[in-house]
Amino acid sequence: MLLRSVAMLGLLIFRLIAAVVCLGTARGLLYPRESESREVKVLDGLWQFRADFSPSRDEGFVNQWYSQPLATTGEVMPMPVPSSWNDITQNASIKEYIGWVWYEREAWVPALWTGLEIVLRFESAHYNAIAWVNGVEVVSHSGGHLPFQANITDLVKMGAPNRITVAINNTLTPHTLPPGTLTHGGPPELPEGFVSLNYQFDFYNYAGLHRPVKLYTTPLSVHVDDVTLVTSLLANGSVDLSYTVDVFVSDSGPVELQIILREKEGGSAVSASLQLPGCQKSPCVLTGNGQLLVNNPRLWWPWTMEPNDPGYLYQLEMVATTSAKVSDYYRMPVGLRTVSLGTPQLNINGKPFYFHGVDKHEDADVRT
Ligand SMILES: *[C@@H]1O[C@H](CO)[C@@H](O)[C@H](O)[C@H]1NC(C)=O
Ligand SMILES: *[C@@H]1O[C@H](CO)[C@@H](O)[C@H](O)[C@H]1NC(C)=O
Ligand SMILES: *[C@@H]1O[C@H](CO)[C@@H](O)[C@H](O)[C@H]1NC(C)=O
Repeated sequence: MLLRSVAMLGLLIFRLIAAVVCLGTARGLLYPRESESREVKVLDGLWQFRADFSPSRDEGFVNQWYSQPLATTGEVMPMPVPSSWNDITQNASIKEYIGWVWYEREAWVPALWTGLEIVLRFESAHYNAIAWVNGVEVVSHSGGHLPFQANITDLVKMGAPNRITVAINNTLTPHTLPPGTLTHGGPPELPEGFVSLNYQFDFYNYAGLHRPVKLYTTPLSVHVDDVTLVTSLLANGSVDLSYTVDVFVSDSGPVELQIILREKEGGSAVSASLQLPGCQKSPCVLTGNGQLLVNNPRLWWPWTMEPNDPGYLYQLEMVATTSAKVSDYYRMPVGLRTVSLGTPQLNINGKPFYFHGVDKHEDADVRT
């Protein structure tokens, strides 16, 4: 995760602040990737949608819209996910809506997933979100720009459709990123109960399920839970890649952890193998750490500094295996580079770097 955040040098300042704020609670938020031990099911497409127009915006909670199909609570409309709901219709009262909106869809959980850990993952929801599975609350999250997830293994019906309901509140407060305030009322010509949202940033306060929603699986007894990588350039030109890998285990025996760094074209690889002592009390999170020494490394450079071969990525493979021979495989792209503060500018791999393209909004003209 740390490496990923360093990778996105052009992040908005407020996103960086959000990452720092949330790191304390964020454990095991590795990006969902498929492998021989993991399956990812993307739940994008049309969901049911309803904005709560009740004056106090709490009808959905009072009448428990999450405990029944949303369409039985009142009029719903189809809403694409991911997207901002504001600009989907031509209805100004929806575009300018402030408060709780509700999303719902059903998702099949195949019987083949029996015996696996099943996780519901939101890549982002702006701003406050609460999610239910089959009417049971599974996760809530504040912050529009980071992923969150819930272990829903015990709640899902196997080989059956499962109802996923999400309530999202787009109200900005002095504590949100970016901050904003609500103003009630105004000049007498405004309708009774008029509320407006005030903020000072160069963007509309778009809201909704802004990034994909997914279900993914891992083995139940073991999974690679998190990884932190730190690259150091050595005086002889080699790279010391230090790793800390967290492995979730609900088994009592020792765990074997393999770490393999491969060149893109299946070229040479460096690897390490660690024996982690079993949990004292299961389940637990075991941590393995060490260094990989990469000789003749292919460093990651931005294209402004290496036009011919920018952004070179290795593949890092982690395999955690229990004494019962259950393995979880997790592979991710990894760039070898350092970012440091020089005077008067930032350095990449020890050389001054000129920034382009900071503050680009994540937005698209085309909706698919
Ligand atoms: C806009 O949406 C609201 C809520 O669904 C609805 O009551 C209203 O009739 C819609 N307005 C138009 C012009 O369609
Ligand atoms: C949700 O929306 C309402 C109406 O705008 C607001 O008063 C309330 O503070 C919001 N709650 C949260 C948790 O964002
Ligand atoms: C997820 O839930 C299942 C079922 O309760 C449990 O066996 C498993 O250990 C949980 N996984 C994590 C990471 O807590």
